[in-house]
Order: sequence, then C-alpha cells, then structure tokens
Amino acid sequence: MRRSGAKVINVVGARPNFMKISPIIRAMEKVPGMGWLLVHTGQHYDVEMSEAFFQELAIPRPDINLEVGSGSHAYQTGQIMMAFEDVCLREKPDLVLVVGDVNSTIACSLVASKLHIPVAHVEAGLRSFDRRMPEEINRMVTDMLSTYLFTTCEEANENLLREGVAPEKIFLVGDVMIDTLYAHLETIRSMDTWRRMGLKKGKYAVLTLHRPSNVDDRDIFGEIIGALTTISHEIPIVFPIHPRTRETARRFGYEGCFKFVKMSNSSTNRSDPGERIDGPGIWCCEPLGYLGFQNLVVHSGFVMTDSGGIQEETTVLNIPCLTLRDTTERPVTITQGSNLLLGHDGGRIVQEATKILRGEGKRGQAPPLWDGKSSQRIVRILAKEFGLK
Ligand code: UD1
Repeated sequence: MRRSGAKVINVVGARPNFMKISPIIRAMEKVPGMGWLLVHTGQHYDVEMSEAFFQELAIPRPDINLEVGSGSHAYQTGQIMMAFEDVCLREKPDLVLVVGDVNSTIACSLVASKLHIPVAHVEAGLRSFDRRMPEEINRMVTDMLSTYLFTTCEEANENLLREGVAPEKIFLVGDVMIDTLYAHLETIRSMDTWRRMGLKKGKYAVLTLHRPSNVDDRDIFGEIIGALTTISHEIPIVFPIHPRTRETARRFGYEGCFKFVKMSNSSTNRSDPGERIDGPGIWCCEPLGYLGFQNLVVHSGFVMTDSGGIQEETTVLNIPCLTLRDTTERPVTITQGSNLLLGHDGGRIVQEATKILRGEGKRGQAPPLWDGKSSQRIVRILAKEFGLK
C-alpha cells in the first residue's frame, strides 16, 4: 500500500466506538497527506447514545451517516453492509479502520475485505472465549479479515498468534480508550456532576448493566437486582440506564426496584441542575455523556458493570470494579488492574461489595502502553505504510 497521500474511512456505530475514534482522528489530522472520512453507521442514534459524545469529545460531524438504526443482529449487520458497500464503491478508500467489537465493526470489515480494501482493527485480539456473546463473534471475524491488528495488551497478541494470525500483522500499541480518558482527565476531575446529583465523594457506587446475558433473562436480571438492592441499603447506587435495560426492566416488571432521578444529561448543560439523589436505593438516570459519567466514576467508592471499556477505565483510575459477568475479554484488568470477575451470583456480589465498603477493595495499576499515546502509535504505523512522513 505504499503511495503518497491516503484515504482512510474511519467507522463508528455504537456508543463505545466514539471515545475510541476521537483520539485516532486527532492523530490523523496531524499527518500531512493522511486523508480520512468518518462514517457513522447509525447503530446508535439517540442523542444520549451518540450525539452527546460527538459534542463532548469534539469529534467531527460524520461525513456519511448510514442511519441503519436498531434491529436483529442479521438485519442490522445486513443493513450496514448494503449501505457501506455503496460508500466504499463510491469513495474507493485505501483502508477501512474499525474499532471495538460491535455489529458495525464486523459489518464494515466484511464489506471492505470482500472489496479487497485492507482493514485495520483497533482493539484486536481480545477474547472472552464465550461465543454466546455477540461481541466475541464480531471480534473473531473482524480479526480474521484484518490486515492491521492493533492490540491493547500481550494477551491479545497471544490470542491472535494462537489463531494463526501472521506476527507481522500484529502491533501492540496500547489502549486508545485510555488516550481519551487521559486527554480529558483534568476536566473530568474538576467537574461537579456527583455534587449536583447530591452525592458524597467516595460514598456512592456507579452501576452499568446492558449485556443481553444479564438483562434479557428474567431470573438472572432478578438475581442481580436482588444483590444490588441489598448493597443499596449501605450505599446509594447511581445507574445511568441503557435503553435496552430500561425496556427489559419494564417488560419483566422490575421498574419498581429502581428510583428514577432526572439528571441534566451532559456537562454542557450546566444551567439545568437536575434532581438530587436522596437516600439509599438504586437510582436510575438517563445514559450520561462521557465526561459526566467519568466524573461519577472518578469520585465513586466503586463501580459495578458488565461493560468492557469500563473495566479498562476503572483499572487506569484505580477504582475497584466488580464485573458482573462470567468471562472477560480483558483479563489484564484482573491480573494487573482493580477488576474482579463475579458473574451474576448475588451472594458473591454482595460479599465483594461489602469488602469494598470495609476498605478492602482491589487496587492495581495500568498495564504497559496504556499511557495516552496509543493513537499516535497507530497513526505512525499507518503513515509509514502509506509512505507518509
Ligand atoms: C451495542 C453493542 C455492545 C456495546 C453496546 C454499548 C453489538 C452487538 N452490541 O449493544 O457491544 O457494549 O452497544 O451500548 O453491537 N437503542 C436505543 N437507542 C439507541 C440505540 C439502541 O433505544 O440509540 C435500543 C434499541 O431498542 C435497540 C437496543 O437498544 O434494539 C439494543 O441496541 P443495539 O445497538 O442492538 O445493541 P446494544 O445493546 O446497544
């Protein structure tokens, strides 16, 4: 692919993609001759799930929005593929860059590779070894199709090598999500989202929950809520609730287990103080913007989550994290960081939360190369491939 000047299509689709693409675009902008387009598949479309992140992270407006919206996996993936094929045929990019493990990631990788356009996968090689997770299929297929595999940790390299990926395609660069965290950390620390919600520093927990394996099963979701309710007698739990979780809570009749608080959505909206959390309970609010959410995390006592990225962010912030899943594709957050894997066993969740409340929470350190410079490494490698300075 050696030539002067290059055209890259950067793809985003769902919430966890936005904080990953932001520093990559910033790094690309600094390289003369590195041309790029931003394509948003429209997998996530609500203001809280998408637009808020573009504003807060100053991501340029997408050049193209495929507006595919929600649907079954096959429908969503198929819609993205059909629309993205037109884009590739029209734009003739030299490279398609995808991030993470969402349906948009696999759909665009499939399209590009069938058109013989090289694919770069950022966050390659992560494996939960659980194929019931849609993300695991997305990761495996995307990695098999990619020409450039940018990894966050040694374990990811080992996974790829074991699967037969040629070593010269694998680049250990660190974690771009952490680039974004470090770029905004000063702002995040200085904000007062926690205070405006009526919380006390270190005296509340943050919760996120949206994995189908946790919230689409009535019994499992019920068991988790039972444990959270017990914990919430000791410490208020703030729960920015994902749309799919809200929907299943309504369907299963669990809404009564939560208290709802109206939060001004983003840090940009400071004139609206929102409502205050008052007493124990699991307090739900709308999904928060990036900065407001991280502000809650940074000043919390601990975090409970089934997200992938939050396991990494809490590791870097050294905040104890209880991961409510049976497996993680990010084991480095356990071996080196502040993460513990608990599944959905209610007793265990309460037990570990109680330890944290006693001051015995797990602490750790950030893995190597999670230093805020991963995007620069990626772009430097790509620029060299394109023959750019
Ligand atoms: C997707 C990703 C998941 C990621 C998560 C972060 C896949 C397979 N899953 O899961 O890896 O952790 O994003 O949020 O790609 N919805 C809205 N508004 C939106 C988007 C979704 O209301 O803006 C609702 C719809 O009812 C939709 C449901 O959420 O059907 C699920 O959305 P979808 O994108 O299919 O998966 P997520 O659960 O968000």
